[in-house]
Amino acid sequence: MSLLAIKDLSSSVYDSTTEEESPILDGLNLGIDAGEVHVLMGTNGSGKSTLANVLMGHPLHRVSGGSVTFAGEDLLALPADERARLGLFLAFQYPTAIPGLAVASFLKKAVEAYRGEEISVRAFQKELRAHMTELEIPKSFLSRFINDGFSGGEKKRMEVLQMKLLQPKLAILDETDSGLDIDALKLLFQNIAQSRESHQSLLIITHYERVLDYIEPDAVHIMRAGKIVRSGGLELSRMIHTEGFEAALR
Ligand SMILES: Nc1ncnc2c1ncn2[C@@H]1O[C@H](COP(=O)(O)OP(=O)(O)OP(=O)(O)O)[C@@H](O)[C@H]1O
Ligand SMILES: [Mg+2]
Repeated sequence: MSLLAIKDLSSSVYDSTTEEESPILDGLNLGIDAGEVHVLMGTNGSGKSTLANVLMGHPLHRVSGGSVTFAGEDLLALPADERARLGLFLAFQYPTAIPGLAVASFLKKAVEAYRGEEISVRAFQKELRAHMTELEIPKSFLSRFINDGFSGGEKKRMEVLQMKLLQPKLAILDETDSGLDIDALKLLFQNIAQSRESHQSLLIITHYERVLDYIEPDAVHIMRAGKIVRSGGLELSRMIHTEGFEAALR
């Protein structure tokens, strides 16, 4: 049975400028099994981030049709926090800052909420330190506020740290690779690839082939106008890289 099964998913978003509902997802189908890595590509505005937001239960998006089963549950019937607790994780394309909330206490609260139990400060610190070393995050970050004044790359590093702590069943990474320097890209994606060993699944949204140097995907999908229009393997991402979307979809 699939970990994630999306059937004919359609959605609309309330556009505050036109004051109308615009349809975005348009009958999207996707299945991801436990331990699989899927890559989602597609032109700007094709609906990739919208899919991630709809799956996480973002309040701006309204589901207008279809179904989503995740870990055996009707995902769309659950509030956003329960979706996260079920093991769904989203690393945002544009992580936001939360001034006033220190990194260490935010992460501890997030992990406790996810695991449904309190963790001693000492045990948490030990876990956190180990992951921070692997991600080469300086200790000084812990006392800073969430993403407040963090550079683009540092924010992404913090998201990967959160993912390593939570060990979700499925992590959706929305352009986690963009804006990273070459060394950071390698380090972060080598860390992300470790999740395969613990049978976690990944949905990697990206515009670039380079992340595939570090993670071998089980499938590559191309999205256009709110649905997946082509699925294949690495040859598909290579073709997009060399020829562009229009030629690859012809
Ligand atoms: N809150 C919103 N209000 C109005 N339109 C929206 C909203 N969110 C998304 N859209 C529209 O939905 C479409 C899909 O956007 P989405 O962000 O999902 O694209 P994307 O595939 O992630 O693109 P990119 O590659 O540029 O990140 C776009 O036309 C966008 O303008
Ligand atoms: Mg996007």
